[in-house]
Amino acid sequence: MSEGSGERPLSALVRAAAETLAAAGVPDPQVDAELLVGHVLGQGRGQVAAASVRGDRLTAAEAAALDALVARRAAREPLQHLTGTAPFRHLELAVGPGVFVPRPETETVVQFAIDALLNAPDPAPVGIDLGTGSGAIALAMATEVPHSRIFAAELSPEAHRWAAQNTARAENLTLVQADLAEAFDDLAGRAHVVISNPPYVPDAAIPRDPEVRLFDPPLALYGGADGLDVVRVLSGRGMMLLRSGVCS
Ligand SMILES: C[S@@+](CC[C@H](N)C(=O)[O-])C[C@H]1O[C@@H](n2cnc3c(N)ncnc32)[C@H](O)[C@@H]1O
Repeated sequence: MSEGSGERPLSALVRAAAETLAAAGVPDPQVDAELLVGHVLGQGRGQVAAASVRGDRLTAAEAAALDALVARRAAREPLQHLTGTAPFRHLELAVGPGVFVPRPETETVVQFAIDALLNAPDPAPVGIDLGTGSGAIALAMATEVPHSRIFAAELSPEAHRWAAQNTARAENLTLVQADLAEAFDDLAGRAHVVISNPPYVPDAAIPRDPEVRLFDPPLALYGGADGLDVVRVLSGRGMMLLRSGVCS
């Protein structure tokens, strides 16, 4: 089919999208361009690369949908808000406005919690995630240690809704909307693991990346004048919740 009929070469669209994103300062423009094309087509990056080599074309409607997404990404809306999902370990989490997008480095941190649960000498070890956001850490623990019992708390009603959606099918996970300063008093001295990725940015230290500054919820980022308000609360809660002889 000719370009006059409305179809446009996928390879040219990827190139143009990557150029637009690069000009907007997006950190990985080529990757994001390929992922956005893949999102429009319902395909992964590998399939997009193969389609590009084959000389596939996008319909006018697909190209228009891509243009709209590229414009939003160029305005530095997080890629994960545009695709509606964020990968986390083996999970694909639903994310969007109102919830912190889980970060790759947290995937590493959660391994310590999973190892501690796996090594706990208990048929049903207890793990607690305080400030669960999308539910990323809690759901990773619940699914990778299926014999564990996981408890997660989130204060923000918007974030709690995303977490509820993501964790709905995990039968060994209990999610509450609560302040971590008060959640799970009934589990005092019973937890094998207490984990948290709290807000820790000092109030005056506004993040440089627009994706963070404009789209991550303030409650997920800022932790008071020195950034440590929530951390101070957490250290006390960890002491209270953990069994004696284990560490958070
Ligand atoms: C940096 S985000 C981390 C989210 C998630 N654990 C992750 O790693 O992707 C911090 C989370 O803690 C939540 N939070 C902040 N203060 C809280 C509090 N006092 N009680 C419960 N949750 C809180 C925020 O709403 C946010 O979802």
